[in-house]
Amino acid sequence: MSAFDQHDQHRNNLLQELGIGPVWQLRHHGSTPAEAPDPVVARMSVEAGELKSPPSLTPELAAQSSRPQVMPQEEAMPQQRAAQAEAKPKPVTEAETVAEADTDTDTSLVSAMSWEVLQPVVESCRACGLCKGRSKSVFGTGDRRATWLFVGEGPGYNENLQGLPFVGAAGQLLDNMLKALGLARGDQTYIANIVKCRPTDENGKDRPPTADEIAACLPYLHRQIALIQPQVIVALGKTAAVSLLGMNLETPVGQLRGKLHHFNDIPLVVTYHPAYLLRKPADKSKAWVDLCMAMQAMPAN
Ligand code: URA
Repeated sequence: MSAFDQHDQHRNNLLQELGIGPVWQLRHHGSTPAEAPDPVVARMSVEAGELKSPPSLTPELAAQSSRPQVMPQEEAMPQQRAAQAEAKPKPVTEAETVAEADTDTDTSLVSAMSWEVLQPVVESCRACGLCKGRSKSVFGTGDRRATWLFVGEGPGYNENLQGLPFVGAAGQLLDNMLKALGLARGDQTYIANIVKCRPTDENGKDRPPTADEIAACLPYLHRQIALIQPQVIVALGKTAAVSLLGMNLETPVGQLRGKLHHFNDIPLVVTYHPAYLLRKPADKSKAWVDLCMAMQAMPAN
């Protein structure tokens, strides 16, 4: 068996695990995926340049938020990074309440932060009420020079305890999705969320973040993106997609899939959230189509 065949066999096994099967495997023999697009993907309407809107909150999304609109991040050039501002995080004390925590994120300050400053600032953030219930904030994890950035919605129960993104069942499926792409957590990949602290309802159950919570947290993700400079972003689910694209929170994910979007000129592909795919495994094949689109959107090096 040739090395290629062994590779394909391995990928087949992974795709079986994903519940997709070898029918969706990328074609390697004789051509790269970019040269020989998957016919399924090719049939989809890839509209490069569509929705090149600023990645900040649009008036639509901002209107759902009572906070001041978050302005787009300035992309820091590598040479500018040396001059990034060093700001001291404000520690959270147990005595602080949600009311006291209601301080808007200082976007201009965040947009100048280095990794070393940003992480402790996020860990001690009090910009919205989610800080009240957190055990650990979930900053994000992976290769800080990643080519692939995967963005989820927000931490759940396990992530809040461990301080790491996607550590539960949905995380296992995400790992399998990465493997199917020939990737691994931390290797060319970075995983982050729209909000860094776990949103819960009055019964302590997970819930989607509100527009206010997204607006408070988004500057952190914008800064992470500016620092990483990924070549492609995969938005996992509706919250990630509409938050990054500045669209209405009610936009169905079905309207967002199948198109090549952009965040600050970085190709952005929308796919289903792994937790949704666990509930609806029949849609895994569509998610694979999305991932193939993301692979093809990767600029040629
Ligand atoms: N779901 C998400 O969106 N993010 C996580 O980190 C975990 C579950």
